[in-house]
Amino acid sequence: MRLVLYNGSPRGRISNTAILLDHFIRGFKASEENSFELMYLNQVKSHQDFAEKFRNAQAAIIAFPLYGDSMPTIVKDFIETLGTKIDSGKTPMLPALGFIIQSGFPEAIHSRYIEKYCEKLALRLGTRYIGTVIRGGVEGIQIKPLFLNRRLFIAFSSLGRHFGVTKEFHPIITRKLAGRDKMSALGRFMFHILKMTGLADMYWKMNLKKHGAYNRRFDQPYKPAL
Ligand SMILES: Cc1cc2nc3c(=O)[nH]c(=O)nc-3n(C[C@H](O)[C@H](O)[C@H](O)COP(=O)(O)O)c2cc1C
Repeated sequence: MRLVLYNGSPRGRISNTAILLDHFIRGFKASEENSFELMYLNQVKSHQDFAEKFRNAQAAIIAFPLYGDSMPTIVKDFIETLGTKIDSGKTPMLPALGFIIQSGFPEAIHSRYIEKYCEKLALRLGTRYIGTVIRGGVEGIQIKPLFLNRRLFIAFSSLGRHFGVTKEFHPIITRKLAGRDKMSALGRFMFHILKMTGLADMYWKMNLKKHGAYNRRFDQPYKPAL
């Protein structure tokens, strides 16, 4: 199978999307006849070329982080480029199209609306919709020790292995990756405790300090001047 993968994170090669795709590809490559090409949508000037590669593939996956309950602008820009490149009536044998959406918030419900958009997009492009893999709670994987990410990475690699054989996202792995749409009552209670200890904010405070923005965290730049 000839697969094209698009990494839709503005962080490109150092993104969480890149890490998850890396594990997916490891599994996908287990079938020797499979080949793939991975493109970074933060290379905006190459979108026309990337869209051309789409037309010549057998399957395509667009993977991106959830941004503002939707997608980064570079992903939307690429989708619009795809739309202009493809005349769904005339372009024969478009690749099947799937999506991977990962987010900071742990609950899958945040990605459910954009999932509907992805399905509709595939339909409008005239491709077969493979499905959408949703995974929450991904921000922070780069600072977690490996043993805490192990199950996640194995799941992505198994997903890729299955995809490499069937051109489908494994339904059980997909369901497990998404987890619950909303936190359980116990989960909410634990999170409440975590918030009270200040631990829930630790990561964000660390990043604010790293970027010299900690003292400006209550700024309201869009507040109308009185
Ligand atoms: C500008 C911006 C907007 C974001 N919006 C959301 C959001 O609406 N919901 C959410 O769960 N996470 C949101 N996140 C968190 C990212 O989805 C999350 O950190 C993701 O793992 C980043 O992946 P990446 O490293 O591949 O870019 C946002 C992050 C940024 C920088």
